[in-house]
Amino acid sequence: MVKPLSKLFQNPETNILAEIGKTAALMHGVVDLSIGDPDQTTARSIIDAAYTAMKQGYTHYTASAGDPDYLQAVLKFHKDYFNLDYDLTNVRATAGASHALFIAMGAIIDPGDEVVILEPYFTSYKVEVEAFGGKPVFVQTKPENGFQPNLTELKAAVTAKTKAIIVNSPCNPTGAVFNQQTLTDIVTIARDADLYIFADEVYWPYVFGDNKFIPLESLAPERTIVTGSLSKVFAMTGFRIGYLLAPKPIIDAAGLLNEGVSYTPVAPSQHAGTFALNHLQEFMPTLQKAFATRLNYLAENLAKVPYLKVQPAAGSIYLFVDIRQSGLDDVAFSDYLLKEKNVLVIPGRAFGAAGNGFIRIAATQDMPELKKAVVAFQTLKLPQ
Ligand SMILES: Cc1ncc(COP(=O)(O)O)c(C=O)c1O
Repeated sequence: MVKPLSKLFQNPETNILAEIGKTAALMHGVVDLSIGDPDQTTARSIIDAAYTAMKQGYTHYTASAGDPDYLQAVLKFHKDYFNLDYDLTNVRATAGASHALFIAMGAIIDPGDEVVILEPYFTSYKVEVEAFGGKPVFVQTKPENGFQPNLTELKAAVTAKTKAIIVNSPCNPTGAVFNQQTLTDIVTIARDADLYIFADEVYWPYVFGDNKFIPLESLAPERTIVTGSLSKVFAMTGFRIGYLLAPKPIIDAAGLLNEGVSYTPVAPSQHAGTFALNHLQEFMPTLQKAFATRLNYLAENLAKVPYLKVQPAAGSIYLFVDIRQSGLDDVAFSDYLLKEKNVLVIPGRAFGAAGNGFIRIAATQDMPELKKAVVAFQTLKLPQ
């Protein structure tokens, strides 16, 4: 006999995503609109940057905070695009935003601390908060408000134990983009209660129409913890490269934790990342345009399907679609759509209870696949 595993990961809750994934894996020719992984292969020149660096011997550990060239590229990009001044004491290279979130949570959370998460939310937040003994406190955002936070409810969720609020704009899964006033109000709530703010900015270029991406760190640099990623900006998910940008004490503490996590990020990925960031204009607009076109196409055509209610995406690479008029709940609907039409989407409740009645459609396939999906929605015969 050996002692039991940590209670934390012996969670008997059904994993909705895993269940649907299992069914999909047994099927052929599925139009997979479930994952937030752009279908585009990383640009050849970015791949070459990693490959060339490896052939030249960049196959070793880098400095623990990251390769100085990569860190400078992050700072320069941040200055060029957002006109914000940070220095090398404010930045760490990470294996994607996931790693940045994890080590930054570890830097600020003591057991019992509460972290406010706006629902529907990117599912990893809960695990990351709980991994350090923190308590996630969920505040629902609602479709009738375009999934914008209700600031009175947000304020009411803050207690003496609250340590941080997580903000993800553009948002996965809802596509909501928070405007200057909303962000300013969030900052006021955070300042009044001495809180940190996580600004998860992985979708920053994906804002459409009149919406604008506003970096939270421009409003509250003293308390904002930016988790950034090259995954979606450059279609580099498999490289696992991102960054943490924050006040120095957080960077230092996260660095100490990371000594026991990954020590350094992946060297070739940092080389690829340096190249990508230094040539951002060569890559990003193409992806931005592709996602804008795809989301427009989906929103326009799905809006005509009688049992769907669709708002054009304000941002992100997802469409969050109301299926309540189908007479099915979101899990049953996703299951039915998969079995009847071979189209895989994610039920909204996978992102928290506030997602009930919605499905998330990732525009991470090319137009011919999206066209197939639209036909599937148009021709789906709902059970009577
Ligand atoms: C909101 C959000 N944050 C963070 C991540 C993690 O991205 P990565 O670890 O690939 O940088 C994702 C990935 O889907 C995401 O949607």
